Amino acid sequence: MKHLLATDGLDPELATSILDTADELKRTLLGREVRKLPTLRGRTVITLFYENSTRTRVSFEIAGKWMSADVVNVSAGGSSVGKGESLRDTALTLSAAGADCVIIRHPASGAAHRLAGWLGETGTKVVNAGDGTHEHPTQALLDAATLRDRLGSLDGRRVAIVGDVVHSRVARSNVHLLAALGAEVVLVAPPTLLPVGVESWPVTVSHQLDAELPAADAVMMLRVQAERMTGGGPGQSFFPSAREYSIAYGLNEKRLALLADHAVVLHPGPMLRGMEIASAVADSPASAITEQVRNGVHVRMAVLYHLLAGEEEGVAA
Ligand code: CP
Repeated sequence: MKHLLATDGLDPELATSILDTADELKRTLLGREVRKLPTLRGRTVITLFYENSTRTRVSFEIAGKWMSADVVNVSAGGSSVGKGESLRDTALTLSAAGADCVIIRHPASGAAHRLAGWLGETGTKVVNAGDGTHEHPTQALLDAATLRDRLGSLDGRRVAIVGDVVHSRVARSNVHLLAALGAEVVLVAPPTLLPVGVESWPVTVSHQLDAELPAADAVMMLRVQAERMTGGGPGQSFFPSAREYSIAYGLNEKRLALLADHAVVLHPGPMLRGMEIASAVADSPASAITEQVRNGVHVRMAVLYHLLAGEEEGVAA
């Protein structure tokens, strides 16, 4: 694998292979006192984050360290980005300093693709850890891993993705990956939180959450991205208010009761409890939110393995 920039266009066989590798890594490390494999010894992984993150940054760092890579974390705030250095110069600097892989989160859609273009000749691999409203491929892979754990397979499963779709890179990456792996996806959102052109996506669209819940095998709640809702001035916002949103699209206990017994509740985090999802739902047996975080480490180990390990290196060698 050259880079991991998106799930749009990701070969389903490669995606399945990454998920299988993550499963193998999870089984290998289960119950071990020392969670350390030598697989990526001598490789250098740099996380380059221009936006806040807890789950993605930490789990990539743990993933690299559990595979014995050297991991360096760079955040825009503490680097020469603050002195005006461009993304291109920053990327070339990290590559020259010895990065085998740069994991980037950036507010601009397309930033990871640009980085991959600039680093093309250097051999440094790029992983997109979230670019604007575009994609967050490792989130979709860890969501798929979690659904496979709970449901056995994604083939023919119905997944409702609910909420702020228009600003969600998690939704975009999940739509492409889930469809490629054989799931049916329904987007449930108010018209103002759906993107232009959604008709061409491999999904159906609904505005009625209650109507979609009984047939769903999984419900993926999205974070409401207030920081990206810049349209309209004070009092002119065309998005629903927090109260309207919660009433129409919040996953509360009453709605949890509409789900089938086997149905799974997901949320990429961070959650707005009480608005997007009630605590009683987030902490219920149907919720796989903690499992998503745990799987995030194994999936990101698998991604680093597929990018950086040589042919001769076994996954758990
Ligand atoms: N899901 C996710 O990307 O979370 P973080 O912003 O905490 O990394």
